[in-house]
Amino acid sequence: MNPRFPETAMPIALERLRADTPGIANRIHLNNAGAALMPRPVIEAMKDYLTREGDIGGYEAAGEAAARLDGVYDSVARLINARRDEIALMENATIAWQMAFYALSFQPGDRILTTRAEYGTNYVGFLQVARRTGATIEVIPDDAQGRLDPVALEGMIDGKVRLIAISWIPTNGGLVNPAAEVGAIARRHGIPYLLDACQALGQMPVDVEAVGCDMLSATGRKFLRGPRGTGFLYVRRSVLVTLEPPMIDHFGATWVARDRYELRDDARRFETWENNYAARLGLGVAVDYALDIGLEAIAARCAILSRRLRDGLAAIPGVEIRDLGPGPSAIVSFTVEGRQAEEIKRRAAEKSINISTSQPSSTLLDALARGLPTLVRASPHYYNNEDEIDALVELIGTMRG
Ligand SMILES: Cc1ncc(COP(=O)(O)O)c(C=O)c1O
Repeated sequence: MNPRFPETAMPIALERLRADTPGIANRIHLNNAGAALMPRPVIEAMKDYLTREGDIGGYEAAGEAAARLDGVYDSVARLINARRDEIALMENATIAWQMAFYALSFQPGDRILTTRAEYGTNYVGFLQVARRTGATIEVIPDDAQGRLDPVALEGMIDGKVRLIAISWIPTNGGLVNPAAEVGAIARRHGIPYLLDACQALGQMPVDVEAVGCDMLSATGRKFLRGPRGTGFLYVRRSVLVTLEPPMIDHFGATWVARDRYELRDDARRFETWENNYAARLGLGVAVDYALDIGLEAIAARCAILSRRLRDGLAAIPGVEIRDLGPGPSAIVSFTVEGRQAEEIKRRAAEKSINISTSQPSSTLLDALARGLPTLVRASPHYYNNEDEIDALVELIGTMRG
């Protein structure tokens, strides 16, 4: 159980929320860390918008929906306690992260501090920039429970630390890193702090003021239950005005004279002109939907279901839960003795249960340190019910080596 989100928090209206989720009629969906099932209002908003694009034209439909499209910035800002001018809507978390990371400049000897469970996409970016610039990448040691150790981080700080960039909830391994403790250290030393909140958003409250990050990247399709191909970047106002996006177009930067452009004054300097507006509207509806339910209630329900899943799996001989840290997230990683992860995923699919696998290369440092093979990843969400969790546990029970 996550101590921050007691399982006794306000219950959610499960039956109503399930009735709002068409996908549950077809599948037991335990792949919310991959892409959650969208609720009906998200699906409907996108369908209606696409119909309108077909009926009256793409630019005309965007004009007609201008106020709602603009409101997406307010919704996202509310979700993370930011200002709307600190939000750039992007097509995924990767682009959001890259826009922030590649906007920073590094000199030989500059230090980038990150975590052992850092996401592969982010880490290859570090490697590329380190190769180009002579910056170094250093991993913050873990504490005894496997989380990033803030005390160790504090001890690493010197004038050469140019960036702290961590994943709050890694793509596998259950871990919830102490993002706010890292934020306090970054603030104290004036070090830019880039937080990957891709797996945190939508499964627990996210408050950029409380966390103290300067930049945050997130995706729409995972625990937030938005459409694929959506994400956003948050950049703190004071940092934003110092960052030149690594690539610009004439939306993010106005061409004001033959030899000059002016960057937009807000975070949308990181955006480009053309966008999937249907998906943007869907993202906005997904954000409002999560806010209506309440992120505390969502977190509490995720804690109940993931605990039930971990307990059920752990009781099966030959099953090893591969998760770390106190109060683990709703991403449950495990292996079954004598079975390949892909085989388990396939067998689950035959029973209409959606789960996924996680390769060592997605968190290579962690996989090497712990000798992890490809893991099975099952990720429940608040709209799952206990029977669905038990169905997976029962299936795994029949598969033990
Ligand atoms: C921790 C983490 N960061 C970033 C990403 C990338 O997100 P996206 O696929 O939206 O670019 C993922 C995707 O699985 C992730 O798990």
